[in-house]
Amino acid sequence: MSNEDFEIPEDKKKAESRIKELRKEIRYHNRKYFVDNQPEISDYEYDQLVRELEVLEEAYPQFITEDSPTQRIGSEEIEEFKTIEHKVVMLSLDKAYNYEELKEFDERVKKRWKDKEIEYVVETKIDGLGVALYYENKSLKRAATRGDGARGEDITPNVKTIKSVPLRLSDDSILNTAEFRGEVFMPRNAFDEMNEERIKKGQEPFANPRNATAGTMRTKDPQIVAKRPLDIFIYTLSYYENGAFTTHVKTLEEMKKAGLKINKFEVFKGIDNVITYLEEYQEKKDQLDYEIDGMVLKVNNLEAHDILGYTTHHPRWAIAYKYPPTRKTTKIQDIEIMVGRTGKLTPVAILDPIQLSGTTVSRASLHNENEIQRKDIRVGDTVLVEKAGEIIPQVVKVIKEKRDGSERKFEMPTKCPICGSSAKKIGSDIIRRCVNAQCPAQVKQRIEHWGDREAMDIDGLGTMLVNKLVEEGLAKNVADLYELDLNELKKIERMGKKSSMNLLNNIKESKDRELPRVLYGIGIPYVGQHIARVLAENFKNIDNIINASKAKFEKIDEIGPQIAESVVSFFEEEKNKELINRLKDHGVRMSIEEEEREQFLEGKKFVFTGALEKYTRDEASEKVRQYGGRATSSVSSATDFLVVGKNPGSKLAEAKKEGTKILNEKEFLDMLETKKLPEN
Ligand code: IVH
Repeated sequence: MSNEDFEIPEDKKKAESRIKELRKEIRYHNRKYFVDNQPEISDYEYDQLVRELEVLEEAYPQFITEDSPTQRIGSEEIEEFKTIEHKVVMLSLDKAYNYEELKEFDERVKKRWKDKEIEYVVETKIDGLGVALYYENKSLKRAATRGDGARGEDITPNVKTIKSVPLRLSDDSILNTAEFRGEVFMPRNAFDEMNEERIKKGQEPFANPRNATAGTMRTKDPQIVAKRPLDIFIYTLSYYENGAFTTHVKTLEEMKKAGLKINKFEVFKGIDNVITYLEEYQEKKDQLDYEIDGMVLKVNNLEAHDILGYTTHHPRWAIAYKYPPTRKTTKIQDIEIMVGRTGKLTPVAILDPIQLSGTTVSRASLHNENEIQRKDIRVGDTVLVEKAGEIIPQVVKVIKEKRDGSERKFEMPTKCPICGSSAKKIGSDIIRRCVNAQCPAQVKQRIEHWGDREAMDIDGLGTMLVNKLVEEGLAKNVADLYELDLNELKKIERMGKKSSMNLLNNIKESKDRELPRVLYGIGIPYVGQHIARVLAENFKNIDNIINASKAKFEKIDEIGPQIAESVVSFFEEEKNKELINRLKDHGVRMSIEEEEREQFLEGKKFVFTGALEKYTRDEASEKVRQYGGRATSSVSSATDFLVVGKNPGSKLAEAKKEGTKILNEKEFLDMLETKKLPEN
């Protein structure tokens, strides 16, 4: 780390005031960029400010505050999601499925509230995960899921990673200690990009942005959460200690002033004007960059909220309107099989093209053979196609009255239509997969995955080059990489002598990667980085893995029948064994070496408090992980060690109460050095 670019004041007072100034500036630009979408400085200038703050905080750790912009991403895993009680219960919304029901709602409101024409605020109903954010003295203290309404799960470290969530409320606002409700979501474009990336890495894509959001918020490693493209809209001020508000719109405006991200809204007098707007919006809603599952109407007057009150489930002053899904009939011309990049066989209906909520639809996934049987879908059938909130159109049902006898039943192939290898179901899976790792449908992605940073880490082996290598016939599988020569490579467009030599060298170096990387890189279905490590640690070399039975795999704690069967059937395939043998012949490492197993902290849980001199929190946590231990954020009975630095927090008292072993920095460093656990 080089600090020379920034001046570190010798004087404590000066340092403190510069730190405060930087935080203020960073917060301002954060808001401009992530909340208002109107950046005022370049990314470079912004990064410089953050860098300077980091350097100063490292020199003066006593000035670090939990709402400092540097404290977004925690280095520690979440041990377990604790439940916390909401300040105010989180209710859900009553629903209306047509305009008639909206008018009935309006009548109910008018009966209890004096206005003849009610003023309504109309917002989108974002399809994500509802959260409550609690701020104390302007600082974000807690974030929780809705849970059962009364109690939710504490997901604070994960929510803090979302850049549009301010860690501190703006000084311009009177809001100080308050609770806000909002929806965490994933924008459509970012979701698509993320899924493409996952498919490339051989990971399962998420079904839709909502699932991706909910899954991500339940991830225990905030570092992973920080990489997911999450965003938030705040829609309710549910508790506040300062200020007084007369309308919902005024609360929205104040929340915006406080730096929270508020969505667009419209205000109308009378339900008829609302309905006209909903009608207009029906077409527009498909162009939004996030998914909605309807619109929300709220009575604007807050006094009316008190008068109207609540049922046990929902407020009487608001209602959600659900748009009917757009449906049309069309004909199935054919059913094709698509072979995915992980070998997954998916039947796809080829349709006579139709227009559905703004896009032309000519294909619909039929998911799997069970689905086809259940709905009795045949080639030539007239079907009802629907596009609901989801992006992917669905075949709802067959219009059987339209059959004329010419329709053809569809049989799912048991062989891969691309390479002819067998296509098998693994365990209880309803999906068939082509078992051949050398299948041309999978080849590009597999080679690229092999070179990924988390796999064999081959620098220079990017998408473009892999495409070229495959298209020119230079690589049909990952073993071919180790047979590339300089002359062949140089012939590829834009590959000069220097970059070709670099690449060859990087490929050669990759032979020495550890076994878990090799196992992950091969791309066995259901074998991610973690399972690859488990396999390597338990079996020590590839031959033991190839020869192991399903039962033997299942004996291992973390390996269930699905993974066991996947590994066994992968190595049953001759072509895959051949591939391993070729990699072996090229000298790719296929066994664990003794020293890699020096996991003397295996199973040990560490918590840190206060600032260490030698390492940042991140570095110390990484050290613990390197030797097989885990770093977690809070002290519990399961914690083995609390490492105490300068200015320790409340964790010290908690550890004493739990009887956790306490280490000072020197004892911690000695332990790393000697690779021995400290004696009691
Ligand atoms: S107001 C007291 N406004 O929908 C009720 N909710 O079905 C407060 N949602 O739990 C809810 N967008 O997670 C409200 N603009 C919006 C919303 C919204 C999405 C979610 C929220 C809530 C669920 C109710």
